[in-house]
Amino acid sequence: MIASVWIMAHRGRRQALVLILCLIELSAVAGQARYSIPEEQAEGSFVGNIARDLGLDVARLISGKARIITKGGRQYVDLNKDKGILVIKERIDREELCGKTTPCSFSFEVILENPMELHRVTVEITDINDNSPTFRKEEMKFEISESATLGSRFLLASAEDADVGSNGLQKYILNTNDMFGLKQHSSPDGRKYAEMVLQKPLDRESEPKISLKLIAIDGGTPHRSGTVNIDITVLDVNDNPPVFNQSLYRAAVLENSLRGTYITTVNASDADIGSNGLVTYRFSNMKEQLADIFHLDEAMGTITLAGHLDYEKEKKHEIMIEATDQGGLTDSSKVLIEIIDVNDNAPVINVMSFSSPVPEDSPSGTTVAIINVIDADSEQNGQISCATDSGLPFKVKSTITNYYALITVSAFDRELEPEYNITVRASDSGTPSLSSTTVLRLRISDVNDNAPLFDKNSYLAYITENNSPGMSIFSVSARDSDWNQNARISYFLEETQISGNPTSSYVSINAETGAIHAVRSFDYEQLKELKFLVRAQDGGSPPLSRTMQRIQSAKSILDEPDSPLECIRFSTRFGL
Ligand SMILES: *[C@@H]1O[C@H](CO)[C@@H](O)[C@H](O)[C@H]1NC(C)=O
Repeated sequence: MIASVWIMAHRGRRQALVLILCLIELSAVAGQARYSIPEEQAEGSFVGNIARDLGLDVARLISGKARIITKGGRQYVDLNKDKGILVIKERIDREELCGKTTPCSFSFEVILENPMELHRVTVEITDINDNSPTFRKEEMKFEISESATLGSRFLLASAEDADVGSNGLQKYILNTNDMFGLKQHSSPDGRKYAEMVLQKPLDRESEPKISLKLIAIDGGTPHRSGTVNIDITVLDVNDNPPVFNQSLYRAAVLENSLRGTYITTVNASDADIGSNGLVTYRFSNMKEQLADIFHLDEAMGTITLAGHLDYEKEKKHEIMIEATDQGGLTDSSKVLIEIIDVNDNAPVINVMSFSSPVPEDSPSGTTVAIINVIDADSEQNGQISCATDSGLPFKVKSTITNYYALITVSAFDRELEPEYNITVRASDSGTPSLSSTTVLRLRISDVNDNAPLFDKNSYLAYITENNSPGMSIFSVSARDSDWNQNARISYFLEETQISGNPTSSYVSINAETGAIHAVRSFDYEQLKELKFLVRAQDGGSPPLSRTMQRIQSAKSILDEPDSPLECIRFSTRFGL
């Protein structure tokens, strides 16, 4: 029917020939057979009983020289004429043959001669799970910041599975971990892919690298799978401040230490890496003057001495230090530097009061001076002992702390020792000990404790009679070992009688010089000897004096008849 229509439409000769061939072919295709076999069957495997299915016996197959005709391409199937069956001639790979197309089949003709017969055979190839899902790469690498927010997604490479249907890729799974979850997707073309979803905050410091496995699984029985490694490098974020390993650093240093002396090292660690973990140190809130005394190495945290320490000014220094990473995060700590005292200060003597002169009659135990001694050092180095020269009549007595009294231990005699140079020495108990001295020049003031003393016990002098009145006869002299007024001597005649007349009517004495003068002209014949007493008195208050006490009777009048002048003998006498 169709053919006749076609003829009517095209009346050309050529078309007519084609038509005839087609008619032959149409009439020759007597039957159809259809088989379904799994792929990958071994050579010689049974495909179908073609003889039975096409209603031909084996003899006809042989006589008709039955054979298979394929239109190009490979011949996968062979005809076993003896058995009348089709067998696998060449292994069939469904994936090679059809790719993803389903159903997958190929067709061929079985042709017989005498008479010609043409039979069409279609063989459908069913999929077997002979392919595993595979990833193109062996590993996936990610670099994810540790600050990535929860829920962040990371697209994963997809796997391919050449099989189709349930033997194809079904799903992905991520090996068990608590960081990432998996979200599966299908693209419009049916491709399956997955994303990794961050479920827990990342922390580079505790887990800098994460290794996961992505497994792609198909639906075959049994399953086949493919795996790819996921290497995640967690990128650092400056999320860790530096942390000092001590909240207080203690150090001690001798006060006279040299510049550059090592004191201590501070250390802060930062869990971050690179510049985020690079820590620098500095002093914070430091008193201006300390900046010149201590040096802190910015990179190493080493503290050394840069200036001069004085225990007496400051016994310890408490300094705040700060560690900063390059991202500006900080931590702080304290350094306590104790200064160890060195005996570098000698005692200092201050004379608070000093009485000079002191009277020579001061009793033993008199306080002459009050001395204050200060030593800037501490403890032993500042413990003072105070003493004075032995051999002098003084001693040092400790009164209240740091105060000493210089007291006398015996009486003075100005006439023997008019002054003392008293050395007071203060020593500390350091090793070695430091000491200092001061000299007090103490003068002893005079007390009128000495009476005048005449040069001689008695004086004897002669005068020629008929002298002129007022004539100087001789001088008496006394000395007084006291000083100044106490030693200023006045001379007096003791009022005694001579022949019923007062002595002063015969002689006078110059109170200052002790010169004795005649008051009248003497006459040897009337008076051959004159005896009287002279008193020497000093200017003290009260005055002390020494007086002749008795007149010694002596033959002291000389009669000199041959001499024109008679001599009168004078005698003075002093007694105690
Ligand atoms: C005391 O010292 C002074 C001054 O050094 C000196 O002139 C004086 O002679 C000394 N006195 C005694 C008693 O050593």
